[in-house]
Amino acid sequence: MIRKRHLAFLLAALLAGTQTRAAAADEDAERMTEEARKVATSLLQQIGGELKKEHDISGPLRSVIVCKYTAPEVSSSVSRKSGAAVKRVSLKVRNPVLGMADAWEQKVLLDFERRFTRGEKPEAIDHADVVTETQGRYFRYMKAIPVTPLCVGCHGPMDAMTEGTKAQIAGEYPHDKAVGYSVGQIRGAVSYKKPL
Ligand code: HEC
Repeated sequence: MIRKRHLAFLLAALLAGTQTRAAAADEDAERMTEEARKVATSLLQQIGGELKKEHDISGPLRSVIVCKYTAPEVSSSVSRKSGAAVKRVSLKVRNPVLGMADAWEQKVLLDFERRFTRGEKPEAIDHADVVTETQGRYFRYMKAIPVTPLCVGCHGPMDAMTEGTKAQIAGEYPHDKAVGYSVGQIRGAVSYKKPL
């Protein structure tokens, strides 16, 4: 009799323990997602701010250079500060060295496209997951980047871009695929990857 009660107690304690651990893991995931969301938003704000500043001062031609040098610099600095690898990726890249999506990122980007087609707002589309790779376990997060009116001067349909910008981009990026976007579409995503 005593043994039975003992067992029931033990089981209840075990169950409670599992639930607490599950709740703690959920809380951890929520906290990491919040942190990643903050870092991704800050990256976009910083790049957007630099771009707008340069655009207002010297027009679209110089801004191509801002994109070329400032965006990777901001990404490195944000990565250093956050302890995560943070960058911008896309299914149609301008710079294949920095912007090419890996297999996981491609899958998520395709899913973002599906969610967008089903009517979700690009500003609100993101995704987080814990992924096991050959090098270890990672917390991975992606946030969609919407196309705003500023972007189409360099990523828009051909008739939205000046001859000068087209020539400059063709010179710097002979394999450019990052054109043909309209305002409100998804240009790519911020990708955040932190070792666990
Ligand atoms: C003045 C031209 C210009 C404007 C305006 C511009 N971009 Fe870009 N964008 C570039 C260039 C150049 C690169 C390649 C940067 C590099 O070499 O890493 C780039 C790269 C990117 C990338 C990285 C992936 C890739 O294709 O290589 C993303 C994402 C991106 N731009 C999004 C945007 C968004 C969103 C906007 C509007 C808020 C925007 N860009 C406005 C020129 C521009």
